[in-house]
Amino acid sequence: MLSFVPACGACRRCVSGRQALCEPGAVANREGTLLSGHRRWTLPDGTRPHHHLGVSGFAEYTVISDRSATLVPADLPFDIAALFGCAVLTGAGAAFYSAQVVPGDKVAVFGLGGVGLAAVLAAVTAGATQVVAVDVVEHKRQLALTLGATHETAGGPDVVSHVRDLTGGGADKVIDTTGVAAVLEQAYAATGVGGTTVTVGLPHPDRTVTLPALNLVAEERTLKGSYLGSCVPRRDVPRFVDLYRAGRLPVDGLLSGRLGLAEINEGFARLASGEAVRQVVVMV
Ligand SMILES: NC(=O)c1ccc[n+]([C@@H]2O[C@H](COP(=O)([O-])OP(=O)(O)OC[C@H]3O[C@@H](n4cnc5c(N)ncnc54)[C@H](O)[C@@H]3O)[C@@H](O)[C@H]2O)c1
Repeated sequence: MLSFVPACGACRRCVSGRQALCEPGAVANREGTLLSGHRRWTLPDGTRPHHHLGVSGFAEYTVISDRSATLVPADLPFDIAALFGCAVLTGAGAAFYSAQVVPGDKVAVFGLGGVGLAAVLAAVTAGATQVVAVDVVEHKRQLALTLGATHETAGGPDVVSHVRDLTGGGADKVIDTTGVAAVLEQAYAATGVGGTTVTVGLPHPDRTVTLPALNLVAEERTLKGSYLGSCVPRRDVPRFVDLYRAGRLPVDGLLSGRLGLAEINEGFARLASGEAVRQVVVMV
């Protein structure tokens, strides 16, 4: 299974257990190289294309650093294994590790793509008694209910008051996976006293957010970012696969369909329209 941050295992962040923040891994991803600093592709005209996040997965063959790879059990189907590389590590990790959902928590998840639905699954597994699923797409909210969310509400101008009403004054943990900066402001506003707002979304780098300065202090609120769910892939993929196999993290619920490489543009169109959650490209 390939993950999008190669982890060198030796830098100060890796050795402190924060492999999602691997320093040489970040440099390699920024430069479009493998972890070694090299590019291994050459086009017929001699140009050397970038490696995309060390994975470059939309190809029949790829070259990777072994530091981008995690061994999965041989009998785990590839289309399930593929889900763990991005959506499950990121979303489940955001709930387990970044938000640290504990039994009895009231949780809201904004955005119900593959990442948000994985966060819903993990919040349920971690013992949240209330999981409010928020999206602008109705069928994704319905899917979240089938995956264990207890409530759903539509994204939009009234979402903050809806979440605050449903959770009796604000959720303990709110996870924003929309990638929309304005929604992060809503997620923060929907978080209760003493609560934690986690953002996973990747908005355009020019976007900024405005937050009330006082309640961060007076309500002891926490706002934090979460990259790769703060996971260590070689520690967490086996954990999450075991949970999946025990029926406690049913990640196959994220899978909307399979497609061939030749149909990849149609797949992206389904993603953009909101029709699909996670689609897996099958290379055979
Ligand atoms: N932090 C990380 O390590 C990491 C890893 C992978 C992906 N990401 C980012 O996480 C985000 C989610 O990824 P994904 O693959 O699930 O994306 P996605 O596009 O499938 O899901 C985003 C969801 O947000 C919903 N949404 C959009 N606007 C909304 C609004 N105003 N209110 C409520 N919901 C709204 C969309 O309908 C969609 O269902 C993206 O921004 C992606 O770039 C971050």
